[in-house]
Amino acid sequence: MAQGLKGRFITFEGSEGSGKSTQIALLEKYLKEQKRKVLVLREPGGVKISEKIREILLDVDNKGMSDACETLLYMAARAQLVEEVVAPALKKGLIVLCDRYLDSTLAYQGYGNGVDLGIIKTIGAFATRKIMPDLTFVFDIAAEKGLARINHRAKDRIEQRKLAYHNKVRRGYLAIAKKEPGRVKVVEVDKTKEEIHAVIKSYVDRVLDP
Ligand code: TMP
Repeated sequence: MAQGLKGRFITFEGSEGSGKSTQIALLEKYLKEQKRKVLVLREPGGVKISEKIREILLDVDNKGMSDACETLLYMAARAQLVEEVVAPALKKGLIVLCDRYLDSTLAYQGYGNGVDLGIIKTIGAFATRKIMPDLTFVFDIAAEKGLARINHRAKDRIEQRKLAYHNKVRRGYLAIAKKEPGRVKVVEVDKTKEEIHAVIKSYVDRVLDP
């Protein structure tokens, strides 16, 4: 249970084009069919202030943004979302599904950009009020493949980064999963969406009805 709160907190992580959104939608449908109360959120964003911060973060014109500024803005967006929505929802007993959370900052700003992991964890604890997910899925895909899947649309500031950067992000996620195997489950994405959904359901069922 998320830090003594009644609800359950499940996050979805992974590189670009890994198919997270499809799986979040399938899981939401599955849980709602069981008459469970579900809330779906995304990061950065989810509430008005955080969506405004998202625009700054992803704007391709903001090329000169420093690593520290980028890290703190992701954290600021997260702090607002946790305060306004995540903490109250978990207190009420909802199941919160969030597309990205603190592990994204560890993977993208930490492993990807070289920002100190200890600093990210310290600021992260402040921003999240130490609310950590009960379960996290890391959708693992080769960076080339993931980027190819999003090639049809305009890339945001982070997506525009080089392949080497996205490879570091992927390795970062795998390192996080290795450190916390109880919470973080790596999902192989080279299966059908039904097969992936079945894997996700099996983990979620265990967290909801232990
Ligand atoms: P999205 O494309 O999944 O909506 O996420 C927006 C981008 O922001 C994506 O490229 C990943 C990146 N990101 C970070 O670099 N650090 C973070 O902490 C988060 C939440 C997202």
